[in-house]
Amino acid sequence: MHREGQDGESGDEGGRPLSEAAFGAEAPSKVREPAHRGPERFLGRLRLPGSILFLGQLIRHGRQTGAVLPSGQGLAKAMIDAIGPLPNQTAIVELGPGTGVFTKAILRRYPGHRLVAVEANPEFVSRLRADLPTVPVVQGCASILVDHLAAHHLAPSDVGVVVSGLPLLSLPGDLPQRILAAIAAVLPPGRSYVQFTYAPRAWKRFAMPGFSAGPSRRVWLNLPPATVMRFVRN
Ligand SMILES: C[S@@+](CC[C@H](N)C(=O)[O-])C[C@H]1O[C@@H](n2cnc3c(N)ncnc32)[C@H](O)[C@@H]1O
Repeated sequence: MHREGQDGESGDEGGRPLSEAAFGAEAPSKVREPAHRGPERFLGRLRLPGSILFLGQLIRHGRQTGAVLPSGQGLAKAMIDAIGPLPNQTAIVELGPGTGVFTKAILRRYPGHRLVAVEANPEFVSRLRADLPTVPVVQGCASILVDHLAAHHLAPSDVGVVVSGLPLLSLPGDLPQRILAAIAAVLPPGRSYVQFTYAPRAWKRFAMPGFSAGPSRRVWLNLPPATVMRFVRN
């Protein structure tokens, strides 16, 4: 049922390598809103339920979306529980917020902390900006996280935690490693990177330099069941 980790490493979209087609617009300014015509133009104005919007993006951008449905509330709670206490004045960085299930849970649990979200898919970015206008949502790739945070006047010492819904197992080429390196680059020692996955055993393929694995937790009440992992920056 799920997508993460089911695809191979190479792909093609419109004649370009998938990595370039789906993620080449790493500079946020180069990401263009899709031009809607005819019925798509009309549909674009409808407010689709989050699950339908998600399914549509799965069909259009399978590997990048990486899941059939948005995460459930049980998984959101487990992700937020894994964050734990945060130093005062530190920011929460969320990667791959999608329709904002974790974003909303973060806002409820950590109202006093600054939150910045980084999302590659312009459709999700539009939805998030409409639903959560107080949250800065960067449209771009997590692999250039340092630049995104600098644009929001955030230095690595300001980052309290990185929370990620990125489907790293289904992203192409060396993009997962570049994203992991970018996360390591913005996290001070002792701070955490919280990530969920549907396939924890497949994570052995990542070396995780600069991190020590913390405890993980299986969340059975999610479709499909997922595992929340926490890595601490050395
Ligand atoms: C599995 S979905 C998770 C969405 C949401 N966090 C949830 O749990 O329902 C993965 C999300 O990561 C986003 N994403 C994928 N690759 C990305 C990248 N390189 N940079 C930023 N966001 C990315 C996708 O567009 C999608 O919103």
